[in-house]
Amino acid sequence: MRIILLGPPGAGKGTQAQLIAKEFGIPQISTGDMLRAAIKAGSELGKIAKSVMDAGQLVSDELIINLVKERISQPDCAGGCIFDGFPRTIAQAEALAASGVDIDFVIEISVPDDEIVSRMSGRRAHLPSGRTYHVLHNPPKVADIDDVTGEPLVQRDDDKEEVVRDRLAVYHAQTATLIGHYQQVAASGENAPAYHNFDGTKPISVVRDEIFAVLKS
Ligand code: AP5
Ligand code: ZN
Repeated sequence: MRIILLGPPGAGKGTQAQLIAKEFGIPQISTGDMLRAAIKAGSELGKIAKSVMDAGQLVSDELIINLVKERISQPDCAGGCIFDGFPRTIAQAEALAASGVDIDFVIEISVPDDEIVSRMSGRRAHLPSGRTYHVLHNPPKVADIDDVTGEPLVQRDDDKEEVVRDRLAVYHAQTATLIGHYQQVAASGENAPAYHNFDGTKPISVVRDEIFAVLKS
């Protein structure tokens, strides 16, 4: 099964991707997590990505497309995967389609901008694994500590309110157009992916159950 998760920053893509990955036994491919790992490793890609991400802008299509192509060629992706935060532009969507990867589901998670800004201030992340928590909506068992590894949680550099607003502007200018794009693809024929929208303002477990119901139908 191959799934694309679409939605604005903070909609809950990473949260739901991890739940889907566990339930269906397929890897999560989060371009954001991969870029943060590259920054931590101090690689050439990480050096380029850092300033772009801190400004809330998009890393170039060319770099992202190469990163994803390399990732999906790995053996653990043979049985499917969940794309989280990719594609983000029409060029990325076209490159994915051209690479011959068949998508079964496109899942859009919607959350209004104002709720996102307040949500991001409460996010805490375990960067090595991509696990995210929320101080109110999904707290770790011990404050600021990752449940699985016992390592400290951090706030992402791009979760400052002004950067969140820039990321939202970029989303509306460059990524939201993918909603119409994939709705059209979904309506286009027999082997087209199914398109489903979910209300991401509902509690995490409710969004999860609604998504699982569709993926299992
Ligand atoms: P990326 O890491 O992909 O960030 P994003 O898309 O902006 O999304 P987030 O990770 O911020 O949010 P999310 O939807 O995963 O929400 P989460 O589950 O964490 O990208 C970062 C940057 O990398 C980009 O700005 C760009 O520079 C670059 N980049 C990445 N991919 C790229 C690409 N393809 N092309 C070009 N550049 C790229 O949840 C958020 C918070 O809300 C958490 O605290 C969570 O616990 C909480 N929460 C989740 N669901 C709920 C709920 N239902 N109710 C209440 N709280 C909830
Ligand atoms: Zn994420």
